[in-house]
Parts: sequence; structure tokens; C-alpha cells
Amino acid sequence: SVKQGRMRQDYHFMPQTGWINDPNGLIFYKGKYHIFYQYNPYYGHWDYMHWGHAVSEDLVHWEHLPLALAPSETYDDHYRGGCFSGSAIEHDGKLFLMYTGCTNNGSGFEQTQCIAFSEDGIHFEKYEGNPVLAAPEGVPKHLFRDPKVWKNDGKYYMICGASKNNLAQALLYVSEDMLHWEFFSVLAQSRGEWGYMWECPDFFPLGDKYVLLVSPMGAGERTCVYMVGDFSYETGKFVWDVSGEADWGFDFYAPQSFVDGKGRRLVIGWANAWDWMPFWKDWGPAYREGWCGSFAVPRQVKMNADHTLSFEPVEELETLRGEETVQENVLVEGGREDIPLQDGYAYELKMEVDLKETTASAFSLLLRCDQDRTRQTKITFDLKGQHMYFDRNQADGWSRGVSHSPLRLKEPGVFSVHIFVDTSSIEVFAEDYRTNHSCNVFADRSQDKNFLSVPAGNLKIRSMQTWSLKKTMD
Ligand code: FRU
Repeated sequence: SVKQGRMRQDYHFMPQTGWINDPNGLIFYKGKYHIFYQYNPYYGHWDYMHWGHAVSEDLVHWEHLPLALAPSETYDDHYRGGCFSGSAIEHDGKLFLMYTGCTNNGSGFEQTQCIAFSEDGIHFEKYEGNPVLAAPEGVPKHLFRDPKVWKNDGKYYMICGASKNNLAQALLYVSEDMLHWEFFSVLAQSRGEWGYMWECPDFFPLGDKYVLLVSPMGAGERTCVYMVGDFSYETGKFVWDVSGEADWGFDFYAPQSFVDGKGRRLVIGWANAWDWMPFWKDWGPAYREGWCGSFAVPRQVKMNADHTLSFEPVEELETLRGEETVQENVLVEGGREDIPLQDGYAYELKMEVDLKETTASAFSLLLRCDQDRTRQTKITFDLKGQHMYFDRNQADGWSRGVSHSPLRLKEPGVFSVHIFVDTSSIEVFAEDYRTNHSCNVFADRSQDKNFLSVPAGNLKIRSMQTWSLKKTMD
């Protein structure tokens, strides 16, 4: 059956069948975590966008709920749309969803912003006055989407991804009642290098700063960019001076943030991406099993002293831990590419390297390998050259590419690595969660060998822990 597909994740959120993309409407509502998501329930590629729905009490175990939204329009074989991405907020004692209605009469997508609401948080009704907002002058109708709403000082605010003169924009709107929206400001605009359209923009306060998080189209490898700066509710102006990448991997896109009952700013991202999919001859190993896509592990956003951001997996994931192995204060002598680590295909690995006592200029982790390492995923930390690489060219016979990022090690201290491996994904968090790479790897479950490679010099490991992780998804 579909649910027994060998590539299905053990503990990353996914629906029981079909295609999933962006997380939508993330909200901590009446004591539970609600996630909605872009969903095609019929088969494993993008089409007929619905909103799927699930709830959790701990961000780790999820209960599937009935579909929240389905497309009302009928579509012919070539022009499909539906209920595109959006967000959720509590208003007037109800749970409100604000989403992009995407229609097509044969001459291209037309995107407007729409509302649905629910009394019980499960069954949703579309507002009869939809749409509540259309694209402004100069913004193409097919490039105006993904409303993210929040409340401040009694008013509702919403940003939307848009495009003008081929430059990406985040547009800010304001409303008293969630139904009537007024343009407030161009919150931010691409400075050229960051694409022609920002999908799923998100905007939130963190400490005394504001963060804009966008998923750019047409910006090459920059697929998940954050900007940190100052914002004024008087002028609607956002002035930012620090920017970075939430994740450098191939498969972390369209994250959405929300605040939970503990006051944490959390993000959940789609563990997949548009870029690589059409270039393969088919939609991949997951598609052949009738599904595609999952969510990356929920991450807490934290602000560093230099105003860069860290994205740290939530502590609730620790409840998944099973068997543990621990090693402490080990000096690994270099010249070996195959120092065995704990076996496993669904596990967590945490490692601290003492840079003061390390002479190796680089080391690698070879994950999800077969015995002779003809299949392997290679994560390399070039400590001297300050680079990090995630190489999946030999991972599974299907995936391709090496994702690359700089490292920012300043003084010789401790270099931290934290990794979540599941049936078909690997998420690597380095440098205290500041430099992260998440990629899909469709390795067979029999590829459960893992190795450490230290080509030359010595590597001083302060600690290395691994845990097998329990299965939560069916
Ligand atoms: C991002 C995105 C959104 C859109 C949705 C459609 O992945 O392209 O911009 O609303 O997916 O499914």
C-alpha cells in the first residue's frame, strides 16, 4: 500500500498520501499546534491545490484532520489552480484563514486574496464576499500571493509576495476587520540580486528587531533568505542591514513562522523545492510511491548578538530518542576515510569538535552509505577554507548536486554539528544552528552505514552522541 512506501519518512510530518508543498496557516490555537498545508490529495505531484490540516500537542505526534479547503472552481486539463498558500489568525471568536485564490480562465493564473473561517477550528466556510483583495496597479495578476497576517495594537496587518518591474516585493496591507484591506507600504523590495518574486513572505518581531523571511524566485541558489532590521508602524518602513540564509540546502523552502504558548518563534518549512524537480525524467522515487514531500523538523528562530539568526530544532524532538551512543574526548588521528559510526537510517547525531586541539583542515561525515560506500552522502566541513558542502551526487542514483555555503568560524573554539537523518532527508545544522543545509536523499533503507572521514591531521572530538529516533508517521 502507499503508506508502506520504502521512502516514506519515519518522523517528519507528511500526509498519508499525495503531494504536499508549503506549510500554511500555522497557529497555536486553543492549546494545540495546527498546521495546514498545500495539498494535492489525488497523486504525488503538484495539482488542484487544497489545504490539508493536522494538529499536534507536541510538534512531534500529528493527528490528521479533514481537508480544510478545496478549490471551488473547475479547471480544465491545462490550467489548474486552487487554494494557494496563506496564513491563519484568531478573530471574532473564530479561526480565520487568509489564502490566495488562484483561478485561470485560459489566459494565465489570476491571484487574489480570500478568506475562510471556522467556529470549531476544523470545518471551514469560504467568505461569500471573496476575494477581499486584488493585485494593485503594476503588479502582474499571476504574481500576487501568499498573505501572512498578524495583529498589532488592535489592527490586522498582512504582507503579500508581489513583483513589480521584474523585482520582487513584499507589500504591506492593514485592516480593522480582516475583510477590508488597505495598502500601507512597500515593506521591502529586491535589490536586484534577490529575484523577481518573493514567495511566502513572513514578517515578525524578534527581540527588538524585525525579521523578513522570503523564498525568492529567480535568485539562483538563494532560496530562503532572511533580512533583519528595524520597522515602524507609523511609516510602514522596514530598514534592514543584516541578511542571511535560513537554510542553504536544496530542500528547505517557503517556511512559515508563528508564536506558540511558550512564546517561542517557530518556523516550519517545506522539505522540498521546485528547482530540481522538473529537470528529472520523472518526479522521483517518492512520486512512484504515490506521494511527494514532507516538512522539515520544526525550528526555533533565535537572534545572535551580531543580528544573524539561528534555526534550532525544537527540544520536543528529544522525546523521539531511542538507543543512545556516546563518545567523549576522542582524538581521531587522520589519514582515514572510513571510521565507522553508529548504523541507522533514522537517527540524530550531535557532535562537538574542539578546534584548539584540532589540526585537521577538514573532515567529512559520510551518511546513509552502503557497505563499500559506492552510495554515500558526503557532508564536508572545510575548517581552514571556511566552507561547508552537502554532496548528494552519489546518494541514491537519483538526486544530484552539491549545496555549498561559507562557514563563519572566527576564533578557535567549539564547532558544533547537529544532524537529523530520516528515510529520505538529511538536515545538517552547523555553527550553533547558523549554517544549515537540508536536502532530500532517497537512499534505500539498507543504506544504513555511517562513517567519519579525516583525510589528514587530527580531529579532537569533545563529544559525539547518536540516537536512533522513533517512528511517528504512518
Ligand atoms: C510556494 C508556492 C506559493 C504558492 C504555492 C502554490 O512554494 O509557489 O507561492 O502559493 O506554492 O502551491
